[in-house]
Amino acid sequence: MSAPAALDARELRQVLGSFVTGVTVITTVDAQGKPHGLTVNSFSSVSLDPPLILWSQSLTAPSHPVFRDAERFVVNILADDQVAISNQFARGKDDKFAGCAIDTGLGGVPLIRGSAAWLECKRMDCFRGGDHMVFLGQVERMQRSGRQPLVFGGGRYLVAQPHDLGSLLTESGPNIARLQAVRLATRAVVELSDEIDETIGLGVWGNHGPTIVRWEEAKEPVSDNLRTGLVLPVLTSGTGLAFAAWLPTEMTAPFIGEEAATDRAANRVPRTEGLEQRVAQFRAQGFVRLEGIEDFTELYGRSISVLTVPVFAPDGAMVFALTAIGASDRLDTSDQGKVLAGMRRCADTLTQRLRGTPALA
Ligand SMILES: Cc1cc2nc3c(=O)[nH]c(=O)nc-3n(C[C@H](O)[C@H](O)[C@H](O)COP(=O)(O)O)c2cc1C
Repeated sequence: MSAPAALDARELRQVLGSFVTGVTVITTVDAQGKPHGLTVNSFSSVSLDPPLILWSQSLTAPSHPVFRDAERFVVNILADDQVAISNQFARGKDDKFAGCAIDTGLGGVPLIRGSAAWLECKRMDCFRGGDHMVFLGQVERMQRSGRQPLVFGGGRYLVAQPHDLGSLLTESGPNIARLQAVRLATRAVVELSDEIDETIGLGVWGNHGPTIVRWEEAKEPVSDNLRTGLVLPVLTSGTGLAFAAWLPTEMTAPFIGEEAATDRAANRVPRTEGLEQRVAQFRAQGFVRLEGIEDFTELYGRSISVLTVPVFAPDGAMVFALTAIGASDRLDTSDQGKVLAGMRRCADTLTQRLRGTPALA
């Protein structure tokens, strides 16, 4: 049998770094009662019955002899505002506990205050795994604070965000659920713009009508004039027409009436003409397509095309409009194009996330 090819150490670190973890500080006391601790993300659960966990320590860590000889240790699962603590315990310093508020647990082992959770463990076993020592501990006492855990992945600290709204829709008021929904949609728009490399606007129905709450730019932005909070007309923007097609008429009618009145006052044919047939067509095809629009040349500096796809909440109400916008001679607005396909996929995913995943709830 031939030996496996040598792995590139940097690549190995990066590959392992794509597995996202929490961050812990493992603490103990030595025979003289002096506290020790180090930042560790190799922590993992092993067994529920008996309750076993593990973590591993580099054999070259200065504190290794202390942990090797210690009978007990505490796993302090850090909260998302404890990055400074994590950094403090990852440095080879002697006064790691300076300025760190602690409580004393079983066997005098320190518990770091403000953590998300604590596991007080008795060391059951330890065995060498290459250049690390794996410690197996049995959980004797545990506690949770309810704080959000700190997350680590790709060599960076991260924050955890729910993947979907889940029970939040029913557990909190409609405003909190709406804020969470915007957060989810914002993330989806970032993913979508990365995937199709087009400028995407996230539109909501605000108290002034169709409003863009987030722009995500393509590598080659359509304009440097993209403003958050931009209020668009109902009758001439993709976002506006999508809301006109899918929101209840009583919500959009006052805005449409005003725009028609402005047209009449300026002796223009009101753009409400043929509106019924147009929105019926948008509803039938499931999206809005506008090509070669000159109305916004002041804003974008050129003729533009847009594709707008509605996003529906689980109850069927339209909550967002996703709009791809680009120069008319560039944006692929075709039925079979990757832009429309990506936007439809994104809208469906968002509806799923707004619903929550019952299997995970
Ligand atoms: C996020 C993070 C995770 C870490 N995970 C581990 C680990 O699982 N095992 C380990 O031995 N060192 C780990 N380290 C490095 C130690 O925290 C660091 O080497 C520390 O200085 C060792 O403590 P000592 O010098 O008191 O022995 C990690 C560091 C960071 C920042």
